[in-house]
Amino acid sequence: MSFNPTTDGAAGGRPPILVTGGAGFIGSNFVLDWLAANAGPVVNLDKLTYAGNPENLASIADDPGYTFVQGDICDAALVARLLDEHRPRAIMHFAAESHVDRSILGPEAFLRTNIDGTFTLLQAARAYHASLAGEEKEGFRFLHVSTDEVYGTLAPDDPAFHEETPYAPNSPYAASKAASDHLVRAWVHTYGLPAIITNCSNNYGPYQFPEKLIPLMIANALKGKPLPVYGDGQQVRDWLFVLDHCRALRKVLERGRVGETYNVGGGNQRSNLEVVKTLCSLLDELMPHSSFRPHAQLITYVEDRPGHDRRYAIDARKIESELDWRAQESFETGLRRTVEWYLANSVWVENVTSGAYQHWVKQNYAARSTVTEGAR
Ligand code: NAD
Ligand code: DAU
Repeated sequence: MSFNPTTDGAAGGRPPILVTGGAGFIGSNFVLDWLAANAGPVVNLDKLTYAGNPENLASIADDPGYTFVQGDICDAALVARLLDEHRPRAIMHFAAESHVDRSILGPEAFLRTNIDGTFTLLQAARAYHASLAGEEKEGFRFLHVSTDEVYGTLAPDDPAFHEETPYAPNSPYAASKAASDHLVRAWVHTYGLPAIITNCSNNYGPYQFPEKLIPLMIANALKGKPLPVYGDGQQVRDWLFVLDHCRALRKVLERGRVGETYNVGGGNQRSNLEVVKTLCSLLDELMPHSSFRPHAQLITYVEDRPGHDRRYAIDARKIESELDWRAQESFETGLRRTVEWYLANSVWVENVTSGAYQHWVKQNYAARSTVTEGAR
């Protein structure tokens, strides 16, 4: 489906997309980017769990092309009603429980939202797709946003994950996402649902909730709190700036082949310790008067995450060659943009780190023993 800016208005004329989980980190970046690009109207279905934040979308709250619906993707009647009312041309499925540490402490919500929720959406999408005809039916897409964690862990010299790498999820989170990917695959093959799966590496950027490595380290450093590095800090992740992920998703939506999987990654493999040290240097530079300088003195080694995957790396050659997508942001520029955003948005950080967040910090970190430099 190609967009014709002369005949298709921003809000009028063109059918919307239905986004799930659009108030979370990647979803809100996607919705903001989509509306800024005048790509058409958006209906955002989000339950507003602890990770969903309407503040992320305050700038578009009054945009006539934006509709927010607070609700659960497990609510079959609600999802069916939304599809019937809004008749979207695509479903962009971001909604999930997304934090590995939370999945270790409480896996139930992950199975419910990531597996049952995806199942509910697939069934509703299937019925909706069956009701369409002609170009509407031809053009409809279900894009399932998934993760590289479904592939398990890599040894230092292993080749990066590619689309044929066997699934080997290790955490409850990864297992629930793997299950959801398998459901999507089955709905394509059995029912002909025009779905596509993307498996992406670690994202970072504005609006990321400070339970994840990068925003957690920034938020703690700003308060002079310890920077808790799990284990030896030599675990490797392949970092991607969130807007590069959003651009990839748009390309997949417009030109990706139905039934295919596309791996998305930034080609930025870094150990956690390297990431934290780089963040500390950036904060030293951007906050020359901070009494916590040098921020690296705050680094504290803590007991490791159980079952901690050692290394992730993405082979993104398929999306690069087929859809002409490439990450535009380098890790250095992306991280600087990210730190600057958090410094400029201290009220956002304050708002999300009050209340229930403190309970989470206590639950996840208080019981972890601190590992001294010599004992590692
Ligand atoms: P997030 O935790 O920041 O946001 C999740 C959003 O989903 C929140 O707004 C939350 O309110 C909503 N949600 C949760 N349960 C819901 C339910 N039952 N019904 C409706 N809404 C619900 O997550 P994120 O980091 O933005 O990740 C988005 C998607 O991308 C997830 O599917 C995740 O698995 C995937 N992904 C994330 C990364 C990453 O690095 N963050 C990388 C690859 C893939
Ligand atoms: O790979 C994609 C995945 O990346 C996404 O599917 C997940 O939704 C997303 O949360 C992320 O998972 P990770 O577990 O890799 O991200 P997290 O930010 O939690 O941790 C990144 C690394 O940093 C990991 O090796 C654990 C480590 N870590 C994390 C925290 C929160 C620490 O050392 N200390 C910490 O306090």
